[in-house]
Amino acid sequence: MAEPAIETEELENLKVRPLEPGEDFNLVEDVIYRRRSNRSYLKKQVPEYLVRRILEAGRFAPSAGNAQPWKFIVVQDQKMIAEMTQDIVRVCKLAKQFLNYLEPGKGGREWLTKLLQRIRKNELHPIPLGAMYLIAEGKLGVWHGAPTVIPILVDMRAPGKPFVDAGIAGQNMVLTAHSLGLGTCWVSFIQPLEYYPKWRKKLGLRYPYKLVTSIALGYPKGNPDGHVNRETQAIDWFAEDGSFKVVY
Ligand SMILES: Cc1cc2nc3c(=O)[nH]c(=O)nc-3n(C[C@H](O)[C@H](O)[C@H](O)COP(=O)(O)O)c2cc1C
Repeated sequence: MAEPAIETEELENLKVRPLEPGEDFNLVEDVIYRRRSNRSYLKKQVPEYLVRRILEAGRFAPSAGNAQPWKFIVVQDQKMIAEMTQDIVRVCKLAKQFLNYLEPGKGGREWLTKLLQRIRKNELHPIPLGAMYLIAEGKLGVWHGAPTVIPILVDMRAPGKPFVDAGIAGQNMVLTAHSLGLGTCWVSFIQPLEYYPKWRKKLGLRYPYKLVTSIALGYPKGNPDGHVNRETQAIDWFAEDGSFKVVY
């Protein structure tokens, strides 16, 4: 197979030495593979300088047209986190009464669920619906006791796909947090707050801003990070020599 053309001198001048096959992970790879969603936190607050460092990593994310179409909010007020949690649980409890197709014939209205699923396919997928049940029953936390919550809003005026940009910014923050020894969990269950006028006002959820997700942040209880097995998905590969293969 033909090697990609690269000048020897250019190769020697590269700032980072390219790894040889089989070498250990570098620091960035290690953080990527070790990061796990953290759902248990110490009661210790994350100091402002660390939160700022994490936000800064988000700010430096690439974005279509360099539009940087995100708005980050930092919530460290424990009363506010408790109140947001309570209101989300309330929505989950209410929704649980009306939406059910996980347990046919066991309460809820299957027909309504199926109808709404056509309109809100992603939100009412069995996985979030199952999680919604667990939150309603108090079996799953919202921010899992994290002392800091970072809601992420997107600016809908942006070119391209602002949700992608916000996701990249969020992942920059998450990886930075883990590299600093902190724990995180993405939490999209923040979205029910959009139904409350008081949260719309307080969090500035009005056009052009839309609430998309949030990040729970704190010092992890125990050490949940670590490599895990993950399913592989087919990758279509059009090679340099014109051949095609599917790799895993
Ligand atoms: C956009 C997004 C939203 C998520 N929302 C939640 C959530 O609301 N609650 C939760 O506990 N985990 C949430 N997660 C975490 C996923 O469940 C988790 O990333 C996935 O199970 C893979 O596990 P890992 O993060 O440990 O690799 C979310 C993840 C992403 C990327």
